[in-house]
Amino acid sequence: MSNNVKDIAVLVGSLRKDSINRKAALALANLAPASLRLDLLEIGHLPFYNQDFDADAAQTPASYADFRRRLAAADGVIFATPEYNRGVPAVLKNAIDIGTRPYGKNVWSGKPAGVISVTLGALGAFGANQQLRQQLANVNMRVLQQPEIYLAGAANLFDSDGNVAVDSTRDLLRAFMDAFAAWTAPAAVAA
Ligand code: FNR
Repeated sequence: MSNNVKDIAVLVGSLRKDSINRKAALALANLAPASLRLDLLEIGHLPFYNQDFDADAAQTPASYADFRRRLAAADGVIFATPEYNRGVPAVLKNAIDIGTRPYGKNVWSGKPAGVISVTLGALGAFGANQQLRQQLANVNMRVLQQPEIYLAGAANLFDSDGNVAVDSTRDLLRAFMDAFAAWTAPAAVAA
């Protein structure tokens, strides 16, 4: 962090190259106020969590150490998730688990968090969004409550440069980013 600009890590719960959640994450980066700098933090290369990896430092994958270091350096985290079978995709849950270990070194703890869910389906990935919020409470993140973002039928809402095709969606995502910027401000974090 420098010049009061907050570094925000963005995690996308889809590995698909045409992921609408990834496009939505790019849109958030474009719409963020100047006080925030958003960077996508990749999670698809992280091996499935195995406690044995952390029992012996020599066994810990280098990708875990790098992921944990980047998260620790972030001032906040935004999650953009699809819904798989009414829940959080495994790749995102895996990343959350990796960040909570080794025991006592939970890198998520205390950080401001924001959640959006985006789906081609009709229900806005409500199930995944709520399940993710439940998990973020457990890892002691400070999750922004409002505005809640559940984007349904999102096939044509975004292009691959993170432009938003619909004015009302653009306004909603901008409001979300403004609220998140306030949420990461020192007064809010200390509350
Ligand atoms: C889905 N999809 C889906 N959608 C939804 O709204 N509710 C659901 O429970 C599920 N379940 C589900 C399971 C599995 C295994 C897959 C692969 C997909 C559809 C999913 O939301 C859709 O493919 C989104 O486009 C995924 O987001 P990305 O990849 O475009 O970001």
